[in-house]
Amino acid sequence: MEINTRNLHIREFKTSDLLPLTELRSTPKYIELIPWENHSKDYSKKLFDDFMRWQSESPRIKFQLAICYQENMNLIGTTGIRIKSINHREAEMGLCLSVDFWGKGFAIDAGQEMLYFAFNELNLHRIAAETLDENKRAINFCHKLGMKLEGKFRQNKFYNGRWYDSVRFSILKDEWNNISYKYKS
Ligand SMILES: CC(C)(COP(=O)(O)OP(=O)(O)OC[C@H]1O[C@@H](n2cnc3c(N)ncnc32)[C@H](O)[C@@H]1OP(=O)(O)O)[C@@H](O)C(=O)NCCC(=O)NCCS
Repeated sequence: MEINTRNLHIREFKTSDLLPLTELRSTPKYIELIPWENHSKDYSKKLFDDFMRWQSESPRIKFQLAICYQENMNLIGTTGIRIKSINHREAEMGLCLSVDFWGKGFAIDAGQEMLYFAFNELNLHRIAAETLDENKRAINFCHKLGMKLEGKFRQNKFYNGRWYDSVRFSILKDEWNNISYKYKS
Protein backbone atom coordinates (compact mmCIF):
# COMPACT_ATOMS: atom_id res chain seq x y z
CA MET A 1 0.00 0.00 0.00
CA GLU A 2 1.03 3.60 -0.58
CA ILE A 3 -0.24 6.96 0.65
CA ASN A 4 0.91 10.38 -0.58
CA THR A 5 0.41 13.73 1.14
CA ARG A 6 1.91 17.08 0.22
CA ASN A 7 5.06 16.34 2.24
CA LEU A 8 4.99 12.62 2.87
CA HIS A 9 5.20 9.36 0.99
CA ILE A 10 3.98 6.48 3.19
CA ARG A 11 4.77 3.01 1.91
CA GLU A 12 5.65 -0.59 2.80
CA PHE A 13 9.08 -1.20 4.32
CA LYS A 14 11.77 -2.63 2.05
CA THR A 15 15.16 -4.26 2.75
CA SER A 16 17.16 -1.06 2.28
CA ASP A 17 15.25 0.64 5.13
CA LEU A 18 17.03 -1.28 7.92
CA LEU A 19 19.98 1.10 8.17
CA PRO A 20 18.00 4.37 8.08
CA LEU A 21 15.47 2.96 10.56
CA THR A 22 18.27 1.98 12.97
CA GLU A 23 19.91 5.41 12.57
CA LEU A 24 16.65 7.25 13.11
CA ARG A 25 16.01 5.40 16.38
CA SER A 26 19.52 5.88 17.73
CA THR A 27 20.37 9.56 17.16
CA PRO A 28 21.56 11.20 20.42
CA LYS A 29 18.70 13.72 20.28
CA TYR A 30 16.08 11.00 19.87
CA ILE A 31 17.57 8.99 22.76
CA GLU A 32 17.60 12.12 24.93
CA LEU A 33 13.96 13.01 24.16
CA ILE A 34 12.56 9.45 24.18
CA PRO A 35 14.75 7.74 26.82
CA TRP A 36 12.24 4.97 27.55
CA GLU A 37 12.52 3.28 24.15
CA ASN A 38 15.01 0.51 23.47
CA HIS A 39 17.43 2.16 21.00
CA SER A 40 19.83 -0.74 20.50
CA LYS A 41 20.74 -1.95 17.01
CA ASP A 42 19.50 -5.43 17.90
CA TYR A 43 16.09 -4.13 18.91
CA SER A 44 15.78 -2.03 15.74
CA LYS A 45 16.66 -5.13 13.71
CA LYS A 46 13.99 -7.13 15.55
CA LEU A 47 11.39 -4.42 14.85
CA PHE A 48 12.43 -4.27 11.21
CA ASP A 49 12.15 -8.07 10.83
CA ASP A 50 8.65 -7.94 12.35
CA PHE A 51 7.60 -5.13 9.98
CA MET A 52 8.78 -7.14 6.95
CA ARG A 53 7.19 -10.41 8.13
CA TRP A 54 3.81 -8.78 8.82
CA GLN A 55 3.55 -7.76 5.14
CA SER A 56 3.14 -11.36 4.01
CA GLU A 57 0.89 -12.63 6.79
CA SER A 58 -2.54 -13.74 5.70
CA PRO A 59 -4.94 -12.42 6.74
CA ARG A 60 -2.86 -9.33 7.27
CA ILE A 61 -3.57 -7.72 10.62
CA LYS A 62 -0.49 -5.53 11.11
CA PHE A 63 0.32 -2.63 8.82
CA GLN A 64 3.60 -1.01 9.78
CA LEU A 65 4.68 1.48 7.16
CA ALA A 66 7.68 3.64 6.34
CA ILE A 67 7.18 7.42 6.33
CA CYS A 68 9.38 9.13 3.72
CA TYR A 69 9.94 12.81 3.04
CA GLN A 70 8.54 13.68 -0.42
CA GLU A 71 11.40 16.06 -1.19
CA ASN A 72 14.12 13.38 -1.24
CA MET A 73 12.27 10.15 -0.33
CA ASN A 74 14.45 9.64 2.75
CA LEU A 75 12.97 7.55 5.54
CA ILE A 76 11.90 9.89 8.35
CA GLY A 77 9.63 7.70 10.45
CA THR A 78 7.27 4.82 10.80
CA THR A 79 3.59 4.38 11.58
CA GLY A 80 1.38 1.38 12.13
CA ILE A 81 -2.11 0.05 12.58
CA ARG A 82 -2.10 -3.30 14.37
CA ILE A 83 -5.43 -5.09 14.62
CA LYS A 84 -5.94 -6.58 18.09
CA SER A 85 -9.27 -8.25 17.45
CA ILE A 86 -10.89 -8.95 14.10
CA ASN A 87 -14.24 -9.71 15.80
CA HIS A 88 -14.26 -6.48 17.75
CA ARG A 89 -12.73 -4.50 14.85
CA GLU A 90 -10.20 -2.92 17.18
CA ALA A 91 -6.63 -1.81 16.47
CA GLU A 92 -3.69 -0.03 18.08
CA MET A 93 -2.00 2.84 16.29
CA GLY A 94 1.56 4.12 16.67
CA LEU A 95 3.73 6.72 14.97
CA CYS A 96 7.32 7.81 15.33
CA LEU A 97 9.24 10.51 13.45
CA SER A 98 12.89 11.49 13.31
CA VAL A 99 13.40 14.44 15.72
CA ASP A 100 14.42 16.72 12.82
CA PHE A 101 10.86 16.43 11.49
CA TRP A 102 9.01 17.23 14.71
CA GLY A 103 7.00 20.43 14.98
CA LYS A 104 6.12 20.65 11.28
CA GLY A 105 2.67 19.09 11.34
CA PHE A 106 3.96 15.94 9.57
CA ALA A 107 2.91 13.59 12.38
CA ILE A 108 -0.66 14.81 12.34
CA ASP A 109 -0.73 14.47 8.54
CA ALA A 110 0.44 10.86 8.69
CA GLY A 111 -1.82 10.09 11.66
CA GLN A 112 -4.91 11.34 9.85
CA GLU A 113 -4.03 9.25 6.80
CA MET A 114 -3.65 6.16 8.99
CA LEU A 115 -7.00 6.77 10.69
CA TYR A 116 -8.62 7.23 7.28
CA PHE A 117 -7.09 3.92 6.16
CA ALA A 118 -8.13 2.13 9.37
CA PHE A 119 -11.74 3.29 9.37
CA ASN A 120 -12.45 3.48 5.63
CA GLU A 121 -10.34 0.70 4.13
CA LEU A 122 -10.10 -1.77 7.03
CA ASN A 123 -13.57 -0.91 8.33
CA LEU A 124 -12.39 -0.88 11.94
CA HIS A 125 -14.59 0.36 14.75
CA ARG A 126 -12.09 1.57 17.32
CA ILE A 127 -8.45 2.70 17.28
CA ALA A 128 -6.47 3.03 20.49
CA ALA A 129 -3.06 4.52 21.25
CA GLU A 130 -0.91 4.30 24.33
CA THR A 131 1.97 6.46 25.47
CA LEU A 132 3.74 7.58 28.62
CA ASP A 133 2.15 10.35 30.65
CA GLU A 134 5.27 12.49 30.35
CA ASN A 135 5.42 12.19 26.55
CA LYS A 136 3.63 15.49 26.04
CA ARG A 137 4.16 15.62 22.26
CA ALA A 138 2.52 12.23 21.84
CA ILE A 139 -0.40 13.29 24.05
CA ASN A 140 -0.84 16.47 22.02
CA PHE A 141 -0.74 14.33 18.87
CA CYS A 142 -3.50 12.02 20.17
CA HIS A 143 -5.72 14.97 21.15
CA LYS A 144 -5.22 16.61 17.77
CA LEU A 145 -6.29 13.42 16.02
CA GLY A 146 -9.57 13.62 17.94
CA MET A 147 -8.73 10.81 20.32
CA LYS A 148 -10.19 10.76 23.82
CA LEU A 149 -8.33 9.97 26.99
CA GLU A 150 -9.54 6.67 28.42
CA GLY A 151 -7.38 6.48 31.48
CA LYS A 152 -4.07 6.76 33.19
CA PHE A 153 -2.19 3.73 34.52
CA ARG A 154 -0.01 4.50 37.49
CA GLN A 155 3.59 3.29 37.29
CA ASN A 156 2.75 0.36 35.02
CA LYS A 157 5.90 0.71 32.90
CA PHE A 158 9.47 0.17 34.07
CA TYR A 159 12.21 1.40 31.73
CA ASN A 160 15.87 2.13 32.40
CA GLY A 161 15.58 1.75 36.16
CA ARG A 162 12.49 3.84 36.84
CA TRP A 163 8.70 3.68 36.78
CA TYR A 164 6.49 5.61 34.37
CA ASP A 165 2.73 6.25 34.29
CA SER A 166 1.09 5.50 30.95
CA VAL A 167 -2.05 6.88 29.31
CA ARG A 168 -4.47 5.35 26.81
CA PHE A 169 -6.44 7.17 24.15
CA SER A 170 -8.98 5.99 21.59
CA ILE A 171 -11.20 7.16 18.78
CA LEU A 172 -14.35 5.44 17.47
CA LYS A 173 -15.47 5.28 13.85
CA ASP A 174 -18.49 7.54 14.50
CA GLU A 175 -16.27 10.15 16.14
CA TRP A 176 -13.87 9.99 13.21
CA ASN A 177 -16.76 10.39 10.72
CA ASN A 178 -17.83 13.53 12.56
CA ILE A 179 -14.43 15.20 12.33
CA SER A 180 -12.84 13.73 9.20
CA TYR A 181 -14.72 16.08 6.87
CA LYS A 182 -12.44 18.85 8.15
CA TYR A 183 -9.40 16.90 7.14
CA LYS A 184 -10.67 15.84 3.71
CA SER A 185 -11.90 19.33 2.74
C1 LIG B 1 4.65 11.95 18.85
C2 LIG B 1 5.29 12.59 17.63
C3 LIG B 1 5.00 11.72 16.42
C4 LIG B 1 4.65 13.99 17.46
O1 LIG B 1 5.32 14.74 16.50
P1 LIG B 1 5.06 16.31 16.32
O2 LIG B 1 5.90 16.80 15.25
O3 LIG B 1 5.15 16.94 17.66
O4 LIG B 1 3.53 16.34 15.92
P2 LIG B 1 2.72 17.22 14.87
O5 LIG B 1 2.92 16.82 13.48
O6 LIG B 1 1.31 17.15 15.37
O7 LIG B 1 3.29 18.68 15.02
C5 LIG B 1 2.97 19.41 16.15
C6 LIG B 1 3.45 20.84 16.09
O8 LIG B 1 3.97 21.20 14.83
C7 LIG B 1 3.80 22.61 14.67
N1 LIG B 1 3.49 22.89 13.26
C8 LIG B 1 4.31 23.56 12.45
N2 LIG B 1 3.78 23.61 11.23
C9 LIG B 1 2.61 22.96 11.26
C10 LIG B 1 1.60 22.69 10.28
N3 LIG B 1 1.72 23.10 9.01
N4 LIG B 1 0.51 22.00 10.65
C11 LIG B 1 0.36 21.57 11.93
N5 LIG B 1 1.29 21.79 12.91
C12 LIG B 1 2.40 22.49 12.56
C13 LIG B 1 2.74 23.07 15.61
O9 LIG B 1 3.34 23.96 16.51
C14 LIG B 1 2.32 21.80 16.31
O10 LIG B 1 2.21 21.99 17.70
P3 LIG B 1 0.78 22.40 18.35
O11 LIG B 1 -0.16 21.29 18.07
O12 LIG B 1 1.07 22.49 19.81
O13 LIG B 1 0.36 23.67 17.72
C15 LIG B 1 6.82 12.75 17.79
O14 LIG B 1 7.08 13.51 18.91
C16 LIG B 1 7.55 11.40 17.91
O15 LIG B 1 7.89 10.79 16.92
N6 LIG B 1 7.79 10.94 19.15
C17 LIG B 1 8.43 9.67 19.41
C18 LIG B 1 7.53 8.47 19.25
C19 LIG B 1 6.24 8.62 20.02
O16 LIG B 1 6.23 9.06 21.16
N7 LIG B 1 5.13 8.25 19.37
C20 LIG B 1 3.79 8.39 19.92
C21 LIG B 1 3.23 7.09 20.32
S1 LIG B 1 1.44 7.18 20.19
